[in-house]
Amino acid sequence: MQEFLVQPVSALRARFSVPGDKSISHRAAILAGIARGESTIRNFLPSADCLYTLAAMRALGARIDPLEELPGHGPVALRVSGTAMQLRAPQSSIDCGNSGTAMRLLAGLLAGCPFESSLHGDASLSSRPMGRVIEPMRAMGAQMDALGESPGCAPLRIRPAALKAMRHRMTVASAQVKSALLLAGMSADGETTVVQPATTRDHTERLLGAFGVAVRVNGNEISIDGGSLPMACDFTVPGDLSSAAFWFVAAAMMPGSRVVIRDVGLNPTRTAVLDVLRRMGARVEVITTHPDGEPIGEVVVEGAALHGTDVLKYEIPNLIDEIPAIAVAAASATGRTTIRNAAELRVKESDRIRSVAANLRAMGCAVDEFDDGMEIIGGRTLLGAELPSFGDHRIAMAFAIAGLSAQGSTRILDTACVDTSYPGFARHLDAVLRGCSDPADFQLNPIPAA
Ligand code: S3P
Repeated sequence: MQEFLVQPVSALRARFSVPGDKSISHRAAILAGIARGESTIRNFLPSADCLYTLAAMRALGARIDPLEELPGHGPVALRVSGTAMQLRAPQSSIDCGNSGTAMRLLAGLLAGCPFESSLHGDASLSSRPMGRVIEPMRAMGAQMDALGESPGCAPLRIRPAALKAMRHRMTVASAQVKSALLLAGMSADGETTVVQPATTRDHTERLLGAFGVAVRVNGNEISIDGGSLPMACDFTVPGDLSSAAFWFVAAAMMPGSRVVIRDVGLNPTRTAVLDVLRRMGARVEVITTHPDGEPIGEVVVEGAALHGTDVLKYEIPNLIDEIPAIAVAAASATGRTTIRNAAELRVKESDRIRSVAANLRAMGCAVDEFDDGMEIIGGRTLLGAELPSFGDHRIAMAFAIAGLSAQGSTRILDTACVDTSYPGFARHLDAVLRGCSDPADFQLNPIPAA
């Protein structure tokens, strides 16, 4: 079983980049796979989750040629010959692994196809709610069933259907549901409009634009036309701000630290974690180097004595994946930090309210747990501990970071799950533990594909 052994360090001073964005890599693989023509995707994230989406697009008829590989992981640059919206029936059920994004977006894509297909995943994914995509899809005429042991859960069976365009008012603020509906809308018989209850990450809208598809955005209403055909394009995926967030928190918690993450995505629907760290007292500087499409730039975070804050309701969808890391920062901050309106955390790769609270308590931090969040009473030095990952990549990484400023050593068990989103995290952690500041020590070296 893989594990991380973390000793405290006095500071983190380094400048490096993190692998490509997970959400954007999924979407780039899907849109390139349905586009007309040959697309090139650079800085693709070769993590387990995104490799499932890539394999799915191959099974559906896209031709995918790796150009550059991260050894031991998968392609970081690839050429995709798309199917021009003419997907072919897969030979077997499509495996989505641990990935909610893969399953929900592919469900949207397959809903209007003229063949039967099915989607399955691992035990964690098979316990996550799929009714949120199935119900609106059925309203569009999709023939989609959840066949799992728990009601509304995977495996999903999707039978051929002609989709009706519709206006759908979403009940959960979920970019996955929105994206599934927009993908389904592309094969519906008119204009499909999705109304979201709060702003969620808008990568699908931006990437559809890059592939030449007209998407109309009016506040939280997004519309797309049936019959849209994406056109191939060359696209570079920004570094994943959610991966960078672990290092932002590590630096923020340790006065004297300064971390610079280069070439990271700065999409405003993803950057609320930076606002929270600023409110907690960290110095955060953002330099946008590429403002267009998916904005990219450099983020500098310097450590300080942090103080607690209230994470605001409207910030929740924007930083939902960063909450485990924010909770670790809150544990080292003086005073209380409250996180409410975040019941969605209970249906992520683990129940993240329970897993964060359990691990913080094991490190000696007091936490009050609520149905929709938690209150963390910070300010005491965390104590090193042996901690489970709960099979959840973000829990494993957040608590490895907690170990950097704990007293004594911290062992995180069962860390293979980190490969879900951050291949190379172990190398970066090792460089931090060795006190490296040379960017070469953080370099993940891709090689040309065979
Ligand atoms: C994602 C959306 C979020 C996020 C997940 C990735 C996406 O989930 O938590 O890690 O790529 O669309 P929800 O849409 O369920 O909120």
